[in-house]
Amino acid sequence: MPEQIRDRRRALLELHVHLEGSLSPELLRALAERHGQPGVPAACLTPDGSRYLPVAGFAQFLERYKAVVSVLRTPRDYHEAALGLGAALAGQGVIYAEVTVGYGVMHRLGVAVEPVQRALHEAAAQVAQQQGVRMLWQADAVRQWGVDAAWKALEAALRCGPGLGVVAFGVGGDETALPAGDFAPLLAAAAREGFGTTLHAGETGGPESVREAVLAGAQRIGHATAAGGAPEVLALMAGAGVFAELCPGSNVATGAVAGFEEHPLRAFLAAGVPCCLNTDDPALFGLCLRREYGRAREVLGLLEIEERRMQQQALTACFAPTGIRAEIETLLSTGS
Ligand code: ADE
Ligand code: ZN
Repeated sequence: MPEQIRDRRRALLELHVHLEGSLSPELLRALAERHGQPGVPAACLTPDGSRYLPVAGFAQFLERYKAVVSVLRTPRDYHEAALGLGAALAGQGVIYAEVTVGYGVMHRLGVAVEPVQRALHEAAAQVAQQQGVRMLWQADAVRQWGVDAAWKALEAALRCGPGLGVVAFGVGGDETALPAGDFAPLLAAAAREGFGTTLHAGETGGPESVREAVLAGAQRIGHATAAGGAPEVLALMAGAGVFAELCPGSNVATGAVAGFEEHPLRAFLAAGVPCCLNTDDPALFGLCLRREYGRAREVLGLLEIEERRMQQQALTACFAPTGIRAEIETLLSTGS
């Protein structure tokens, strides 16, 4: 068992991490070579191939993301990506992760979803056994590709279902492209089928974008950053018990906030909005969840007791079935 997990009191939950954004530079190079795409690492990585280049703003990030995703083509590719993420999570002391996978992206690239999800489910079993990390899956649609494409993503997610580890449905991408309300019927359908629901909002959009996402029925909001400056939206979230998947390091990397010290974590805590920290796209942004909490302690004055409370809130807000939830609860509560 990795060193960090031995200290259960410091075990972490990760509720917002994109599989595609977790591809290590090494795996990106290997997959690009496998599929004859030398231009991808050349465009995304430093000349020595060891790190991702920084992005200049959110638009460039979306372009970068598109390039990275294009090297994932087969179930084997996804399987390797999931094993890589599992090992990285274990090294950070993460015991449970809900991992977002771009179903909308697979459809667009002509990749068959179900064999991929089967491979991800197998990889998750291997990671659980070898690394002690539980991974479940969130199927993701892309906001700017519209509602019809998102329905297709949801249908594929329902075909896979909890039997293949799929427990949630979300919509990411460019939140400014379409109103969250357009996706409300979709979120309602997902919830009726027993899926958890989450929308990216308040990352590049303002507090209104977060309000719309809450009113559209999302149980959790990815980022939610802009709500931090809007007490009425924080109150709406707190009152409705809507959970904020905060991603401060990612926000710094894309320019959504000017610096870590500008992240409104304290406003979320003060308003009683349940939340935790997350890495979003850890490899692309060079992030580690343990370090995110460390930075929050140093820069934003996060207290140890607050960090622990965030893990409990993450447990309450996670979309795991009862058995896995009980397992995580035991791991969190047993202490070192
Ligand atoms: N997909 C992956 N990372 C994302 C982000 N930070 N915002 C929107 N969509 C994403
Ligand atoms: Zn995200």
